[in-house]
Order: sequence, then structure tokens, then C-alpha cells
Amino acid sequence: MFLEMGLLKLIIVPSLVAVVAFLAYTHLVPTPKPDFPRDGWFGTGMKRADDTKITPFKVAVPDAVLEDLKNRVASTRISHEVLEDANSFEYGFNANYLKKVLDHWQTKYDWRKQEVILNSWPQFITEVEGVKVHYYHAKPDAKKYKKVVPLLLVHGWPGNVFEFYKMLPMLLDPVAHKVASTHDIAFEVIAPSIPGYGFSESPKKTGFSQLAAARVFRKLMERVGHKKFYMQGGDWGSIVTSQLARMYPESALGLHLNMASASPTSIKGLFYAVVGSIIPQHVFKHSHHHDYSTLDILTKVMLPESGYMHIQATKPDTVGTGLNDSPAGLAAYILEKFSTWTNGEYRKLPDGGLTKKFTLDELLTIVTIYWTQVNVHEFINKCIDQILHQGNIVASQRFYKECFTDPYNFPLTNIDEMREMQCSFSHYISVPTAHAQFPNELFDKQPAEIIATGMNLTSQVVMPDGGHFAAFEHPSDLAKHLFSFVGGLEKKK
Ligand SMILES: *[C@@H]1O[C@H](CO)[C@@H](O)[C@H](O)[C@H]1NC(C)=O
Repeated sequence: MFLEMGLLKLIIVPSLVAVVAFLAYTHLVPTPKPDFPRDGWFGTGMKRADDTKITPFKVAVPDAVLEDLKNRVASTRISHEVLEDANSFEYGFNANYLKKVLDHWQTKYDWRKQEVILNSWPQFITEVEGVKVHYYHAKPDAKKYKKVVPLLLVHGWPGNVFEFYKMLPMLLDPVAHKVASTHDIAFEVIAPSIPGYGFSESPKKTGFSQLAAARVFRKLMERVGHKKFYMQGGDWGSIVTSQLARMYPESALGLHLNMASASPTSIKGLFYAVVGSIIPQHVFKHSHHHDYSTLDILTKVMLPESGYMHIQATKPDTVGTGLNDSPAGLAAYILEKFSTWTNGEYRKLPDGGLTKKFTLDELLTIVTIYWTQVNVHEFINKCIDQILHQGNIVASQRFYKECFTDPYNFPLTNIDEMREMQCSFSHYISVPTAHAQFPNELFDKQPAEIIATGMNLTSQVVMPDGGHFAAFEHPSDLAKHLFSFVGGLEKKK
């Protein structure tokens, strides 16, 4: 206990002094604030006007690509053995279980069935800032609901739009799926693949950050006819939609997050983070946060679980090369996250608890989409049989590097930049924001009091169960909270 207190003082007191000094410096010295960039270009070659036509899209992976995938899975080499006293996920993906997953992929998994699911809703491709963006655009039966409101729904890493396949029908027809009791509201859903993910084209230039994605998605929403819309997101989806709310509050009707990150950059936030770590039960209202500890988040979550982030934020292409060349490597790398991020305790299990909440088929669909990125240019030119499938794991990982290098996005490196930032993660979000906190979400441990220092948090609910991939794991809980939040805002109008 004494040692712990000593340690606490050793770390917290100097950090507190440093942060207070920093805040005083940054607040007392006024500097002109440059605006964030309103345009960008991530296409090939010189900037030109976007081709704004909207092309319908269907997922159709050629047989040859699927055959090649099966052959590669068949020739997998897994020669390391699981440690005798660690038959779990604690050293990473368990090799014994990986062999079972690969066997399922090769002998039982049917991509064509998954393709039918993927093609259940209308999909389109259009060019924004030089990149072909894929998106679902699904509309409810307008006769059935009093009001149809637009929703921008954004996925994260290592997921893609497939994560939404269970929630989409609920958003379109909430009464039929028992996530709302009245016919007041249904959503018109626009769910894009982040460029570099899923069926969107990869950016060809550096700088495609979360801020750029937010700008691109706002342009997409305007192109499909919506100047104002609601937003929902987890993982990168929460960061992208939050950035959109910061940059373009006039476009955002409301923001719903299942991962809320607010860095304690104000004095109040800092107070909560420090004092709340010592006497959380006196500082935070909700009992879920009565064991809150900033130090625990750092040492029990961030240090053991953020290695992937450091790699991807520094040298994404290096690790990505191996993953893009080996389906086994890709599956291990991605599905390890679906284990640990769904529930940290699953690390102790030989199979990572992967099928406790998901089926191998749906998990392998997430992976197969990373394996088979479509060359959308060729799709648009209608030579469907010749579409190249190149994989998009590298591009998805570069999104981490761009996150930390965009000076307007997350200026960590330079105090002058930090003072000037117009749109950093710490800039206050004034748009009404709701937060669905899932208890096993490792990266979403902040109490409402801390989050409210960074955004206009009008509602936070702590869910009874669930982790990082909320839409995939608990779609109806997420949809219910989203409907009650948006219903409340619409009633006030
Ligand atoms: C939060 O949102 C509500 C609802 O739109 C609004 O009335 C209120 O002024 C906002 N608060 C802040 C601090 O922006």
C-alpha cells in the first residue's frame, strides 16, 4: 500500500505540475488560429475535379481469387508450438486454434453465402477528393414511419462495413426488430467504407487522416442529399464522426458514440483524472466507474494492448507486407483483436473465446474482405471478371500513421502546433452527444464526468454486457440507445 501510494505520488504529482504549467502556457499566450484544410486530394497524380457520378456496386469476387485464397491457406506453415504452460491467447493468437480456424476457412467457409448478405442493401461508389468511396445507402419504408432521418454510420479497424449487417435492418425498421416501440423514426443509413478499407479505394497520397475522412464523408453526405445528419461510430468511426462534429457542427444533428475518448486537457478534466483515480467513488456518479484509475488504464490496458498501434503508427507497410501475403497471418492478426477487444478475459482461453459471441463464418468474412479488396476503377469500367483483388490491410494500417502525423488532427509533437490547433481531438464538441459504454470495451473506460469536459454529453449509458465491436456483438442494445437518443432530440424540435 505504501509502495503504491509512493508510486502514485511519484508519477502523479510531477505530471500534474507539468500539465498545469503546460495549460497555463497554452492558455495565456494567445496565437492566431489557422483553420483546418477544407479540401484535399488523395487520388493519383495532379489534383483535378472529382468525377461526381454515383455508380451502383455489388460485391462479386471472382472464383480465381477465392481459389487462390484456398490454395494459400492450404500451404500455410505454422511450425511454432504453443508453450506448454500457456495454451491461451496471452502470447498472441494460439497456434492450435489458428489451425482450426484455417481448416474452417478452407473446408467449410462459403464466401458466396456471405456475398449474398453483403449485397442485401444498395451499395454505391462515387469519387471524393480523388478516391472512389464505397458506401451502403439504405432507405426505410417511408410509409411505415412518421419521420425518416439520415444517419452516417462509420466503422473502425480491424473491422469494415460487414460489422453492421445485423444492425442495419434494425435501423431501417426498428419496430419490426423490437428496438423501438413507436413508428416515429427510422433511419436512412449511409455507411461508407473508410478509404483504404473494405470496398473503398486506398488513398494514393499521404495525409489521409481521420480529419480528412471526416471531410470526405461530409462531402459524401452532401452529394447524396443531406446537409444535416446524425452520426454513429465506434473505434475509428467514433474519432471520424467526432472530428466531423468539431469541424462542421452545422452539419451534425447529433453524435452517438460507442467509444468516447476525451483527453483531460482542461483543468476540470485533469482534476477528475487525478482525484478520480484516488477516490473514484466520491468523484464519479456511476458505480461502474468506482474502480476508475488513470494508472490502470495506462498500465493494464494501454501498455499491454497498444503495441499494434505503435507499429501501425510508425511502419505500417512493413508489418502489412507479411499480412497481405499470408491469409494465416492476416487472420491471426485481425482475429486476435476480436478476441481480446470483445473481452480481455478471453486472453486466458485456448480458443480466445472467439465463438462465444461470433461465428467463425462472420469473423472470417471480416478477414476475407481485408484479403479481397476490389479494384474499383476496373469495376466501374465494367470488366468485372478482371477485377484485381489486392488486399487492403496495409492501407487500413496507414490510417494510424496519418492519425499521428496530421498537424490538425492530433498534434502531439510540437507545442506551437498544439496551441494553434483548430480541430484536435481535445477541441470541445458542442453537438449533443450520446455515449453507449460497453463494459468490456478496453479503450472506453472514461466516466461521464471526464467525457463531458470534452463534449456535450447529454446521455451516457453503461451497457450490461459487450465489448469493442458493439454493432457486431450487441446490435439491438446499440440500436435501442441510438433510437432513444435521436428520438429525444427529434421530439424537442
Ligand atoms: C448541448 O446540446 C444541447 C441540445 O442541442 C444545447 O441546448 C446546449 O446548448 C449544448 N450545450 C453546450 C455546452 O454546447
